[in-house]
Amino acid sequence: MMGNTFGKAFSITTWGESHGPAIGVVIDGCPPGLELSETDIQHELDRRRPGQSEITSPRQEEDRVEILSGLFEGKTTGTPIAMLVRNKDAEPGKYDSIKNMPRPGHADYTYQMKYGIRDHRGGGRSSARETIGRVAAGAVAKKILTGHGIEILAHVTELGGIKASPVHVDDIKANVESNPVRCADPEAAKAMLERIKQARENKDSIGGIVEILALGVPPGLGEPVFDKLDADLAGALMGIGAVKGVEVGSGFAAATMTASQMNDPFKIQDGKIVCTTNNAGGILGGISSGETIVCRIAVKPTPSIARPQNTVDMSDMSDTEITIEGRHDPTIPPRIVPVAEAMTALVLTDHLLRSQQYFI
Ligand SMILES: Cc1cc2nc3c(=O)[nH]c(=O)nc-3n(C[C@H](O)[C@H](O)[C@H](O)COP(=O)(O)O)c2cc1C
Repeated sequence: MMGNTFGKAFSITTWGESHGPAIGVVIDGCPPGLELSETDIQHELDRRRPGQSEITSPRQEEDRVEILSGLFEGKTTGTPIAMLVRNKDAEPGKYDSIKNMPRPGHADYTYQMKYGIRDHRGGGRSSARETIGRVAAGAVAKKILTGHGIEILAHVTELGGIKASPVHVDDIKANVESNPVRCADPEAAKAMLERIKQARENKDSIGGIVEILALGVPPGLGEPVFDKLDADLAGALMGIGAVKGVEVGSGFAAATMTASQMNDPFKIQDGKIVCTTNNAGGILGGISSGETIVCRIAVKPTPSIARPQNTVDMSDMSDTEITIEGRHDPTIPPRIVPVAEAMTALVLTDHLLRSQQYFI
């Protein structure tokens, strides 16, 4: 199976399955001399792990990270950093009855067609537990970015059709972790919680939108032709399970704007060149402009729902019905927040390290 490695200068390979013994990541290309501890990683994994609130999967996993290599006396050595999290609360038997029935909205059918064999337990490799490796590596990337004054924030802006009011960056910092939906508008957060409850009562699920901001990114990150920063960010964010759309800056709204509305005028402020608007989302010609990078992702409703759905039994090629048991997130956007931040951090770190080739 190829395609498990991401990034060129700061490269990560994730490994593991939902109900296997463990899951993890190997980072190659992390610069030496970075102070790093399991606490740095654990903080981000705790934001990602299930069982945190009534609106996350009740699977009880501590998700304790073990760093196996690449550190000496609390600092990175420049060698591969291997990190592992053991799966402790797996219930593989729960999936036996649906082994031959692809769950609608999941990767079961496509994995089966591609490989002819798959670990069917909890989606195996296609499970969201794979994102543990991304978040662990993303924590290292965030640490490198912090050293360069770059900060990444994500928040839920829409859930089940309920839109949050526009918020200031300070509101995101202050409010996003204060409610389980990770929405920076507390009133909208209450309505979103109610909408999740309604969907659950209907044995259904809802999706939403997550916005990701990267603050303090200097001008110059991104390669101008095939490795454009916006293209890499879009690929990284689209590569998260359940993401069905990515926008940068004005995104799809740009199609209905005139150039005089869309173009971000330049001006001099405190001796520096800045833009007075940010419809470009901080990227021009595939290269960061120095403005805040703004991306949004559309996240689909959780595919596993408790109501019967039509599917097929691949063992005898008959039509059948499936009712999915197991433990699931009633909605994914709040849990995707730390994953989206991690993927953004990985792309920016990769480009930051690559951009250093331009300076001697
Ligand atoms: C953080 C996160 C949590 C998720 N939790 C669940 C879940 O509890 N139940 C579920 O059915 N799908 C969940 N998903 C979505 C599935 O993994 C995903 O929809 C499925 O693998 C098919 O991939 P696709 O939607 O990208 O086509 C989650 C995804 C992410 C990123």
